[in-house]
Amino acid sequence: MDDRLFVFDTTLRDGEQVPGCQLNTVEKIQVAKALEQLGVDVIEAGFPISSPGDFNSVIEISKAVTWPTICALTRAVEKDIDCAAEALQYAKHKRIHTGIGTSDLHIKYKFNSTQDEILERAAAAVRYAKQYVEDVEFYAEDAGRTDNEYLARVVEAVIKAGATVINIPDTTGYCLPEEYGAKIKYLMEHVSNVDKAIISTHCHNDLGMATANTFQGVLNGARQVEVTVNGIGERAGNTSLEEIAMILKCHKGLGIDTNINTEKICPISRLVSSLMNMPVQPNKAIVGRNAFAHSSGIHQDGVLKNVQTYEIINPKDVGLDDNSIVLTARSGRAALKYRLHVNGIEVDDESKLDNLYKKFLELADKKKEVSDADILALAGANSAETNNIKLDYLQVTTGKGVKSVASIGLNISGQHFEEASSGNGPVDAAIKALKRIIRKEMTLKEFTIQAIDKGSDDVGKVHMQVEYNGHIYYGFGANTDIVTASVEAYVDCINKFRV
Ligand code: KIV
Ligand code: ZN
Repeated sequence: MDDRLFVFDTTLRDGEQVPGCQLNTVEKIQVAKALEQLGVDVIEAGFPISSPGDFNSVIEISKAVTWPTICALTRAVEKDIDCAAEALQYAKHKRIHTGIGTSDLHIKYKFNSTQDEILERAAAAVRYAKQYVEDVEFYAEDAGRTDNEYLARVVEAVIKAGATVINIPDTTGYCLPEEYGAKIKYLMEHVSNVDKAIISTHCHNDLGMATANTFQGVLNGARQVEVTVNGIGERAGNTSLEEIAMILKCHKGLGIDTNINTEKICPISRLVSSLMNMPVQPNKAIVGRNAFAHSSGIHQDGVLKNVQTYEIINPKDVGLDDNSIVLTARSGRAALKYRLHVNGIEVDDESKLDNLYKKFLELADKKKEVSDADILALAGANSAETNNIKLDYLQVTTGKGVKSVASIGLNISGQHFEEASSGNGPVDAAIKALKRIIRKEMTLKEFTIQAIDKGSDDVGKVHMQVEYNGHIYYGFGANTDIVTASVEAYVDCINKFRV
């Protein structure tokens, strides 16, 4: 029997902390359900005390998901733990994840405290959480830079206080693989009650070693890994779920297995990338666009003779389908539904499917072939349907030697408004016209336009950041017309304004 490695997914907590990647509750539920299908053991659903949005998401994810344990993060603070326990009330399997910084730097500068005091606070937090739930995970923040002897004392104390899982985060991504592996080994050998808990890895990728560090942790006795889809996360990100899952699948001889249904890896990767507006780098291991593309003549020749010459993973094992259903203007609803499903989006509501299908036909009329990226962009844009402010129409005159002029129509809560303006280009003119309707002090902070595939008939994706009232809001638009996509992204930002 293989040794079981538990997969703790923190895409919706550590992953979601990335600026611009915030999801609303409906989107989080969509990701949580996909994570359940993928077979993760634990979903870290949020940090409930941090915001009402996070609190609500933990509640709704708890209701929506059955099998995985739902975990909520806290500091080693009683009111955080009370709040997490309340947010977890509907979870079928629940875990509180509490902890405190244990490195000298954290103890001195964050807490102005001492090692003994921190050890006592750590144990007290675990005891406090235990009155609410049986399953309590403790994290020793900055464990990567914590002295091993002190770390072992903390781990022993929190296990004695009832912790069931001990998280050893390399919070700053500083550790070398051997160093991190040796840290886990040290704990396995020096913590007298270590057999009463599971040791967990939680590695950040600042030096590009998150996966290597996690893997060394597992080889030295950790039996839970904390990971995110596509390796998203603060700064350079967290350990990639898909990399760890495929390392263990490819190296079966290690005798360590996860519950991950690897065929769901690519669909969930695309889903997370599209919902979070976070493109995956093309050469990213396992899920990058080029991960299975052989372009050099020698490789192509080898692969055609025997695929194993240059391929260690069968693309089908990670859910890369053969694209046998291609979407064109003649495709029906069922084909669209199938490709959405392949991309991790389930549309069971007929009216939603009708709506998407209408938009798909409009796009298919403009493009010969509609790609997966196009329909993901459509599905993303479709989630804006319920917004208060909608773009009714946009007309732009532009070109060389003429001043750009735009007129715009907005529907605001059912009422129609129109304005026009000139500008130094079509986007500038359109946004100036929009600002004449929405009379708010708002400033465009960031504006990126990206083509999805290639070709002049391609869909352009626009990401925007607009500052309003001291906050930055992120917006997204996708259209074959990049001026329209830009205005849609701006409108998306405005719809998110907190008044
Ligand atoms: O990186 C880290 O230390 C964390 C903890 C809060 C678990 O994310
Ligand atoms: Zn982290």
